[in-house]
Amino acid sequence: MTVTADISFAQFAAAPKGTVIVLAGDKLKMGPRTAALGVEDVVRRAAKTADFEAARVKTLDILAPESATFDRLVVVGIGKIDDLREHDWVRLGGASMGALARGATATILLELPDGSGPDAKAAADFAFGLSLRSYAFDKYKPSKNGQGKASKPPPKVTIQVKDVAATRRMWMARSEVAAGVTLARDLVNEPANVLGPVEFAAEAAALKSLGVTVEVLTERQMEKLGMRALLGVNQGSTRPPRLVVMRWNGGRGRDRPLAFVGKGVVFDTGGVSIKPAGGMEDMKGDMAGAAAVTGLMRALAGRKAKVNVVGVIGLVENMVDGNSQRPGDIVAAMSGRTIEIINTDAEGRLVLADALHYTETRFKPKLIVDLATLTGAIIVALGHHHAGLYATDDELAEAMRAAGEATGEKIWRMPLGPEYDKMIDSKFADVKNTGGRWGGSITAAQFLKRFVNNTPWAHLDIAGTAMDSPQTDTNRSWASGFGVRLLDRLVADKYEG
Ligand code: BES
Ligand code: MN
Ligand code: ZN
Repeated sequence: MTVTADISFAQFAAAPKGTVIVLAGDKLKMGPRTAALGVEDVVRRAAKTADFEAARVKTLDILAPESATFDRLVVVGIGKIDDLREHDWVRLGGASMGALARGATATILLELPDGSGPDAKAAADFAFGLSLRSYAFDKYKPSKNGQGKASKPPPKVTIQVKDVAATRRMWMARSEVAAGVTLARDLVNEPANVLGPVEFAAEAAALKSLGVTVEVLTERQMEKLGMRALLGVNQGSTRPPRLVVMRWNGGRGRDRPLAFVGKGVVFDTGGVSIKPAGGMEDMKGDMAGAAAVTGLMRALAGRKAKVNVVGVIGLVENMVDGNSQRPGDIVAAMSGRTIEIINTDAEGRLVLADALHYTETRFKPKLIVDLATLTGAIIVALGHHHAGLYATDDELAEAMRAAGEATGEKIWRMPLGPEYDKMIDSKFADVKNTGGRWGGSITAAQFLKRFVNNTPWAHLDIAGTAMDSPQTDTNRSWASGFGVRLLDRLVADKYEG
């Protein structure tokens, strides 16, 4: 797994070395420990020439005065103090890390302008942002990744805080969530020649070391279960498919689990209904739903969440071959429903049809949330800033919206309805796998809904948010790890304890 910044906490102390990072509020107000560095004057002058007004997450870079014990000073703006919320602290941490290059050693004086706080929770949120932002997928760039001659290790950061013990305690859980996000990003960034279904399954199986129970189903086992929808997608690949079941039992013995299901198409050529060449390389990320579920399990097990959870991921490859599935083919899913394949590029829903049915019937979960890079249509609708949410349960939808708000992983609810459902009725089978041009993300969700019976269910279409997503304060990598933080929060706030 990619190594992120080395983060530790310490008491406030004099004579820091290397890079020093301080916070400044509105009107460039700085706290007493920052003032004690004797830099207020130089900061004021630098801010004036640079038009720096300490707006939130803006930074000002200053060469330290000769008299200082350190080399470089970075001022991070916090803006108005009164409306600082959780996600703002995460962003401030991210912005601070953004000022640091590989090889840097930095000390951060974490204090508010009035000398109070932040409290341990906000300080841990800040550290969380630092960690998330420090992620860089450079394993195939030896000149940068710490292995090449001139390359350097990730930044080493000491955060000086008021209450070291309390901050460390709160950081413990967050560092595990950060590790889950890192794992999800790594899986999505990894190219498909390296990460096929078998290799992905092995990464998931590695979670055993954290106490996760992992079962890996082979092609034969899936055949016996009748998963012809999932298997049809993989038919053109020379590599075998896998279905992975991850279980974390941190809750009471007889509590029904929460279930998370992920689309894991390690590469999506579109199959016979082949995609255009431009941008097809991005389809190595078509397993981001499965990556998010795996990262979530990593996070929950790492922080020993008091809840029972099952994660199920369907791992296949959608290739072009003499043995590929054809448009017009009809397959029977595990549920018994027959599916007419109209477009072999609408493959994610076929994988999920069997993964969802398997999850519901085997585990009888309290709820099911699936994640999938399912449609280009959701990118047309919401761009890269919200994932599409579909839900059959308003309480679940509201809890997810709240989790999105708190973590900054934003989601937007989309409609379901009988008019859309009708669009996927087939002439020859129970259902067809596309519903025509309009409302493409909605008809995809309607398709999935036909494979869930009565369990409260939500579907996240993350095609726009999981990869090639906007550069943010907490991520500069192509893969975002979208979903890990959102669902970790959903579990923590609504279902734990
Ligand atoms: N994996 C794609 C969706 C996708 C597109 C994800 C762009 C990320 C970025 C999915 O399998 C797909 O091809 N969907 C088709 C469905 C269509 C054939 C009904 C689409 O969205 O065009
Ligand atoms: Mn496709
Ligand atoms: Zn796909």
